[in-house]
Amino acid sequence: MSMCKSLAVVVSFGLVLSAAVAAEQPGLGKPVTEADLALWDISVGPDGAGLPPGSGTPAQGAAIFAQKCELCHGPEGKGGRNAALNSTTERTVANYVPTATTIFDYTRRAMPWQQPKSLTNDEVYALTAYIFALNKIIGENEVMNAETLPKVKMPNRDGFVSKYPEKH
Ligand code: HEC
Repeated sequence: MSMCKSLAVVVSFGLVLSAAVAAEQPGLGKPVTEADLALWDISVGPDGAGLPPGSGTPAQGAAIFAQKCELCHGPEGKGGRNAALNSTTERTVANYVPTATTIFDYTRRAMPWQQPKSLTNDEVYALTAYIFALNKIIGENEVMNAETLPKVKMPNRDGFVSKYPEKH
């Protein structure tokens, strides 16, 4: 009996509380502006849909990498304390990722780890070019931009089996 009573008290207290909260209008949330939304609307498809303007070369990427990435990923993407970006044995860029645009998208949204979304689009193109050149996926002088990047053929492009082949 006493169990039921205390349950009833809890329930009614909950009701009173939520009524009070509703009356107060806490004003949680705010309308999203186009500018706010643009920061999050950055998905890039495997075919390159959604790639922004801009471009970069491996040489430009090398300079940025030394400054902003080497600390964690090691010189030339090897031997760092985080994921190797230049390896023939670990599951990483060359022997894992099936689409080139993934490296761009991931880097743009998540790197550098401690300051994501701080890179310009040119920097992300250059870093992508550098990482691909390190892995010998592109030549040392190839420019990465919205046209060239989706055409890069990743070594492991056929390494994944789709559960829904009809959707491709
Ligand atoms: C403070 C450390 C840190 C810095 C600086 C950093 N990264 Fe990372 N990076 C990580 C971590 C952590 C991961 C998650 C994967 C892991 O560690 O295994 C990661 C993953 C990645 C991956 C995915 C690798 C894979 O195979 O899954 C890429 C690509 C990458 N980083 C690129 C960059 C680039 C380019 C920069 C420079 C702009 C950068 N990172 C700077 C820590 C860092």
